[in-house]
Amino acid sequence: MLPALFLLPALLSSLPPALADAADACSQIAEALSDASDVYDSVLEITGHFPKDISHWASSSTQMPECTVEPATTEDLATILRIVNATQTPFAVKGGGHTANPGFSSTTGVHIAMFRFSEVTYDETTENVVVGAGLVWDDVYATLEPMGRMVVGGRVSGVGVAGFALGGGYSWKTNQYGLTVDTIVAIELVKPTGEVVTVSEDSDPDLFWALKGGFNNYGIVTRFTLKTHAQPENVWGGLITYTLNNVDAVTAACANFSANVTDPKAGIITTYNFVLGELGISQLLFYDGPEPPAGIFDSFLDITHFSSDVKARTVVDLVTSNPSNTTYGQRGVFNTVSLESYPVDMVSFIADQAQSVGSKLSLKSGLFISYDVEPFLPSHLSHAAEGSSAYPPTRAKGFLPLNLYYAWGSDLADEDVFDAIRQSAQEIYDYASGEGGQDIAGFPLYPNYAIFDRSLEELYQGNVAKLTEIRARVDPYNTMALAGGFKF
Ligand SMILES: Cc1cc2nc3c(=O)[nH]c(=O)nc-3n(C[C@H](O)[C@H](O)[C@H](O)COP(=O)(O)OP(=O)(O)OC[C@H]3O[C@@H](n4cnc5c(N)ncnc54)[C@H](O)[C@@H]3O)c2cc1C
Ligand SMILES: *[C@@H]1O[C@H](CO)[C@@H](O)[C@H](O)[C@H]1NC(C)=O
Ligand SMILES: *[C@@H]1O[C@H](CO)[C@@H](O)[C@H](O)[C@H]1NC(C)=O
Ligand SMILES: *[C@@H]1O[C@H](CO)[C@@H](O)[C@H](O)[C@H]1NC(C)=O
Ligand SMILES: *[C@@H]1O[C@H](CO)[C@@H](O)[C@H](O)[C@H]1NC(C)=O
Repeated sequence: MLPALFLLPALLSSLPPALADAADACSQIAEALSDASDVYDSVLEITGHFPKDISHWASSSTQMPECTVEPATTEDLATILRIVNATQTPFAVKGGGHTANPGFSSTTGVHIAMFRFSEVTYDETTENVVVGAGLVWDDVYATLEPMGRMVVGGRVSGVGVAGFALGGGYSWKTNQYGLTVDTIVAIELVKPTGEVVTVSEDSDPDLFWALKGGFNNYGIVTRFTLKTHAQPENVWGGLITYTLNNVDAVTAACANFSANVTDPKAGIITTYNFVLGELGISQLLFYDGPEPPAGIFDSFLDITHFSSDVKARTVVDLVTSNPSNTTYGQRGVFNTVSLESYPVDMVSFIADQAQSVGSKLSLKSGLFISYDVEPFLPSHLSHAAEGSSAYPPTRAKGFLPLNLYYAWGSDLADEDVFDAIRQSAQEIYDYASGEGGQDIAGFPLYPNYAIFDRSLEELYQGNVAKLTEIRARVDPYNTMALAGGFKF
């Protein structure tokens, strides 16, 4: 294993120095924790824990903390919260580290990495599974799939359970079973006051509701109890890539699928990438069974591709083979627009955005520009009752979250890239609501795709007041405000 020293020279030079009094909090924590948990206070330590603890999918989401903590018990987490509250030390809670927003799961103070909450315990009687908040979905699938069970989780490799589930959760299974929040049965939570509770519809319905979309505002989650469903032995799907000359054909196929395919087991993501000066498409196909019914995917399969690995395979194989880390370690940011539908004019407009922003930004530090078109059935939000979770704040229409993602190399380009992704989202919104004729004015934005300065109202709409009230009850000293994120 490489000493941490070799992994972080860039970080050491580009980040602000850690807070002086955070060192005091770190030593108090080290003193107070049980043997099951550990504190790492230097990037130079050779075990490798420190760099792993702070690392993120997007390097711009990583900061240099005073120390990292790997708590293993709820009691130790309560102790950490007591100390950061008493010392008013900024802290972070990191699950899978896949946020594309700086400071949401990083800090210059006390960095909590949740890895040690790693259980996956399936209960045959209830058909529910208890899942540790430090896991990524790949691990959960690997345990459940051999039992013939599955959960509603991430679509590509490496995404954390916790942030995904606490923000909403759009899955390959969403057309059949809803969002991940719709499948949560209970949440084990360490409250900012130190109390450890299992929150459910029965125990505290308001807090349960708030946690389903409310991220780290209410404390630190340690375990989720999730509903499972039966998993066929194989699914079908994979990745097809297409080059520039076939972009229009794939756009038509995407619009056709979006308008015409009603089988809830079928799903696609059409990703327009601008990379190395040219537009191309990464097309993911999914069917929840070993062979899709004839016709559903024909319009994609008939187009000449550059590469394809579509086949019958396990869920684990499908998810882990998706190259979610092709931009791993670069800076990254997401933004989003919620749309009504994906007719061909809308999808073409999105493709044109990838092309035009890509051409403009590549002169600067723009290396990778992508737009994920993610059609779901109009019924996909109807698997849970209106008002059953903080996100989505309305289920009246099955609105569709478009994901914009830019990756780049130098922190000097940050502000230009942030401006470009804000502007592109605005242009897509303007086109959709204008010429596109889409009635999207009342649609909320998906918090897991929204750039950091979107307002609470844009994400949670009419729920903001109630979410703030519940925050004041559960976190009377506003301890969780010391951690980053969308804050109530
Ligand atoms: C490659 C990639 C693919 C993605 N695919 C999808 C997809 O298919 N569908 C989808 O809906 N989203 C997807 N996302 C978005 C994803 O849902 C968010 O990035 C999500 O927040 C990731 O969760 P995490 O635990 O990895 O993130 P982290 O960065 O660790 O955390 C995100 C937020 O959650 C908070 N948090 C984490 N753990 C806890 C905890 N235990 N208690 C309280 N708060 C906590 C953090 O403090 C932070 O504010 C994808 C993202 C990436 C980068
Ligand atoms: C948090 O800090 C405040 C102010 O310093 C203090 O009054 C309060 O008791 C602390 N809360 C807990 C749960 O320790
Ligand atoms: C949907 O299918 C119908 C019938 O085959 C076809 O006329 C229509 O063009 C399709 N929609 C799109 C967007 O391709
Ligand atoms: C839509 O897709 C189906 C196959 O799924 C195909 O038969 C049909 O011709 C396509 N229609 C258009 C307009 O592309
Ligand atoms: C990217 O994913 C592949 C396949 O899972 C893995 O082997 C590789 O180590 C990953 N790279 C990084 C930088 O995470």
